This record gives sequence, C-alpha cells and structure tokens, in this order.
Amino acid sequence: MTTQPVLHATDLAKHYGRFVAVQNIDLQIMPGTIHSVIGPNGAGKTTLFHVLTGTVAATRGQILFQGQNITRLPDYRRVQQGMARSFQVTSLFAGLSVRENIRLATQGTKPGQAFNMWEGIQGRLGQHDWIDHILAQIDLRHMHHVAAGMLAHGQQRRLEVGMALAARPTIIFLDEPTSGMGIDDIDQMKALIHGLKQQFTIVLIEHNMGIVMDISDTITVMQNGRVLVEGPPDSIRHDERVKQAYLGNMVTGGAQHATG
Ligand SMILES: Nc1ncnc2c1ncn2[C@@H]1O[C@H](COP(=O)(O)OP(=O)(O)O)[C@@H](O)[C@H]1O
Ligand SMILES: [Mg+2]
Repeated sequence: MTTQPVLHATDLAKHYGRFVAVQNIDLQIMPGTIHSVIGPNGAGKTTLFHVLTGTVAATRGQILFQGQNITRLPDYRRVQQGMARSFQVTSLFAGLSVRENIRLATQGTKPGQAFNMWEGIQGRLGQHDWIDHILAQIDLRHMHHVAAGMLAHGQQRRLEVGMALAARPTIIFLDEPTSGMGIDDIDQMKALIHGLKQQFTIVLIEHNMGIVMDISDTITVMQNGRVLVEGPPDSIRHDERVKQAYLGNMVTGGAQHATG
C-alpha cells in the first residue's frame, strides 16, 4: 500500500487584485513528517499557509485534506476536520491562566475525525489528564496557574503551540514559531517541534536554517510566489538555485515579484 499525502495541493494560486502572491503551487505533505517551507521575505510562505488553512480563499487550484476536497471550506470547518495553526500572541487570553487557555482551546473541534493519530491517547485520557499532557509537552506544567499575560515571550510562544495541539489536530501549521526568541528559547522550541512529529504532521515556516536543516524531512523553497525547489535537507543545502535566491534577497533587500 502506498502512503497517501495528508494534504495535497494542486496548481494553487492566490491573487490580491492584479498582484499574484502565490501561483502554480503543487504540494504534497506526507503523514508523520516535518515539512518546512522556506524562502526570502515576501516569497509567499504566509500567504500559502493562509490559503491552505482557509484564512483566505484560493484564487485557483485544489486542496485535498485526507482525500477530501476542502478548497472551498471556511477556516473553522478545516479546524473541525483536523487542521490547526499556531495562534498569534494576541489571541492568548492574557488575563486567564495557562491552564484555562489550553482548556478553552480543547473545545475548538468536534470528535469523529476520520484519521487521527491521537485517538488512542484520547480514549485513555479524560479532559483533565489531556490538558496536563499538553502542559507537560510544552513544558509549562509548573506555570499552569500563571496568567498567560505574565509569561515570558518564549513561554507564550510555546503556549500558542499548545493551544494548537489542544484541539487534537492531524496536521499543524507553524508560522515562524521562533520569531523574536533568544537562543535558549529557540533550542527548546526546536526540541518541542521535533517531538511533535511522533504524533502529528507538521508544516513549518522557519527562518532559522539550523532548525530547518536539523529537523525537516522535506523542505520546499519558495521564491516570487512559486516553488523554486523541493527536497530533503541535504539536497537543499547544496542547491545553487537556493543559494542564489537568498543571495538575491540580500542584494536587493526583498524578493522581486511579477505582477498581473
Ligand atoms: N492581503 C494582501 N494584499 C496584498 N498583498 C499581499 C497581502 N498579503 C500579502 N501580500 C503580498 O504577498 C507577497 C507575499 O507575502 P507573504 O506571503 O507574507 O510572504 P512571506 O511570508 O514569504 O514573507 C508579499 O509581496 C506581500 O506584500
Ligand atoms: Mg511570512
């Protein structure tokens, strides 16, 4: 039996008026992998996440999630089906405790997902134990009673990841989870993401090349709204086109885009 992709995008595009933010995107995310999306600023990485998660509608193309066509589903329906993305800091409830934030996030989905790696654990754990399990995973068990607004930046970023996990997704999208972090927090986030691979499929946008090269199974490199090249870390590391893309970005200070 050949393994089917969890997520399969075909000829995906997003236009903002006459501006083409992403186009010709063919992407297959395999189950149980860490699949990173990298590329210079403005390459279209966040826009691609928006289209895949339903934050914005695709202009053209198709997205299959676990074999189902979700291209036209609104974002909350995709969450119910098992897609999660990391929350922004602003979506934390600053006045509520860490535990309360996780508890509220567990209520984001309905049961009965067709394919869910958490099923065994869900069956065994009650709600309370489930929340403890997540708190341990994001290393905030000792802070569970502290108001989210009082946490350090790195702890808040881990709580965001925990809130995405809480809804028991199949696939989780993380957009630059280490942004603004110091070195210790970065190492901890890297270990957290790597550990999640045991239970989830992960799609990761990340600027830190050390993390990307160390923990990714597959890397998709974007430039000017398109996929430039895709492959395992070792082939990406030595790819001349990738070096040129980053060099060009450094020289011009931003990616050049075709419009219209
Ligand atoms: N809502 C929008 N309206 C118009 N252009 C946008 C919008 N969102 C993003 N863009 C443009 O799309 C391009 C890709 O942006 P983005 O996906 O954020 O890139 P990345 O995440 O790779 O840095 C950029 O040129 C950006 O200015
Ligand atoms: Mg971005």
